[in-house]
Amino acid sequence: MELYDVMRTTFACREFTGEPVPEEVLRRIVDNARFAPSGGNRQGWRIINVTDVATRERLADLSLPTAARYLLEVQAGESPLNTIHASAITDEQVARAEPPQWLVAHIRKAPTLLVVTVDLGLVASMDKDLDRIGLVSGGSIYPLAWNILLAARNEGYGGTMTTWGVAAEPQVQALLNIPADWAVAAIMPLGKPLKQLTRLKRKPVEEILFTNRWDGG
Ligand SMILES: Cc1cc2nc3c(=O)[nH]c(=O)nc-3n(C[C@H](O)[C@H](O)[C@H](O)COP(=O)(O)O)c2cc1C
Repeated sequence: MELYDVMRTTFACREFTGEPVPEEVLRRIVDNARFAPSGGNRQGWRIINVTDVATRERLADLSLPTAARYLLEVQAGESPLNTIHASAITDEQVARAEPPQWLVAHIRKAPTLLVVTVDLGLVASMDKDLDRIGLVSGGSIYPLAWNILLAARNEGYGGTMTTWGVAAEPQVQALLNIPADWAVAAIMPLGKPLKQLTRLKRKPVEEILFTNRWDGG
């Protein structure tokens, strides 16, 4: 596919046909995705292809509590899980909520499930002393994760970058033998899209590109 077509049509695919992602296609996807950048080109990354059904189920289960909180916060009109505005949703409300199984169904059902991990011992976090949530560290792993989704689209497949399970990182680490210094960046269901979206909802250029000043002034 043409690059811009891939970029404009790589959507968050959550429904798949039962068709597996062939081993050689997955290999090709990763073989191309690995050209993603990372700070200092450290490439402290490892991708786990989780084929064991019970382990996948557990990863979906571990994603549920944060998916429940996410949903409640959205329903309360909040921008979910942000670190600036305190949420009105309590832990008790989350615990009482019906687990939103439908939100994690793609983790359970996808033909392929990848867990993307990063070695924090190799990540340069230039913003580590700022008084806000760390942002730069993710830049050494999410380009790889996104490249996987772009490459999958190019191969006729699709997937989603899910992060609800990251909130349960210690349990995910224990489940997959991930060392303590390695962070879980994403849990990514992959497969053949049931339906290919081609018109994604995004802000127009005028709303995101400004000259000289943040406000264009
Ligand atoms: C950092 C990040 C975290 C995300 N976490 C989740 C998640 O936990 N679960 C999920 O279903 N989708 C998740 N997504 C997918 C987004 O919801 C999706 O990319 C966005 O809504 C755009 O969807 P579209 O490309 O289909 O328009 C995540 C995406 C990003 C970039």
